[in-house]
Amino acid sequence: MRLRVLGAGAGGGLPQWNCGCRLCAMARAGRIAPMTQSSLAVTVDGHDWAVLNASPDLRGQLAATPDLHPRALRDSPLRAVVLTNGDIDHIAGLLSLREGAVFDVWATPAVLDVLRGDRVFGVLDPAKVTLRGIALDAPFSPLPGLTVTAFAVPGKVALYLEGDAPDTAAEGEQTVGLWLAANGRTAAYVPGCAALPGALVARLAGADAVLFDGTVWADDDMIRSGTGPKTGARMGHLAMSGPAGSLARLAGLANRRLYIHLNNTNPVLDPAGPEAAQVAAAGWEIARDGQEIVP
Ligand code: MLT
Ligand code: MN
Ligand code: ZN
Repeated sequence: MRLRVLGAGAGGGLPQWNCGCRLCAMARAGRIAPMTQSSLAVTVDGHDWAVLNASPDLRGQLAATPDLHPRALRDSPLRAVVLTNGDIDHIAGLLSLREGAVFDVWATPAVLDVLRGDRVFGVLDPAKVTLRGIALDAPFSPLPGLTVTAFAVPGKVALYLEGDAPDTAAEGEQTVGLWLAANGRTAAYVPGCAALPGALVARLAGADAVLFDGTVWADDDMIRSGTGPKTGARMGHLAMSGPAGSLARLAGLANRRLYIHLNNTNPVLDPAGPEAAQVAAAGWEIARDGQEIVP
């Protein structure tokens, strides 16, 4: 099994179009690497690929990834898209896949309802693009030789579905992690997660590689950076730092661990900063666009 980070960034990417924060400015100046938005590709045989989350940057991500280029006149190695939630940064890329190719879209019924309920996604011809429901904790196979199991993680509904007071750490079909298994190797992909209860920590400990929500360093990253009033918790994202943060909660893990879905306000993106040093000392990597991971 090979994983390819198509986009290591959270919604907005790095730099974000309307953001002049320190890190976005550093990315524009070429001092740190830019990041496209959240997506991970996976293959078992090197020929057929599944894309986990279809970001608004998918067209450019496919163009930048020779493994995902056509090999015939009208062709793509992309066999399936698997969604972890209904967030814009994870579904908008489906609209760029509307050119008549045959592939499957796998998502929980709650997320499929979003696609079916929005006429814009009707552009995906149902004769070509098959929407397939994922049942929690039930393995399915989006590619030959790859077994995927979706598990509920604390999270919230997509921003555009929020009511006045959304439950920001609900466990159900809104937000899932994906357990990937092939040829005896395993990886857990969890780009959005609001908390790490014990059962989830135990599950992640069993994977050969963990790719986990790196949206915010501290719950108040956006407030500190002056970019907005929202906390990580309000966005359904657990901070890296702090006593209940992912660094502390996953400190006992001995497997390969990478942060993915990094927001442009996360100070860990400054390689010269103390946050990056702390993360590296704890044994974590910061995922980067184009990175290949062999769990
Ligand atoms: C998130 O990860 O919190 C969402 O992608 C936010 C958004 O919809 O922009
Ligand atoms: Mn996101
Ligand atoms: Zn920024």
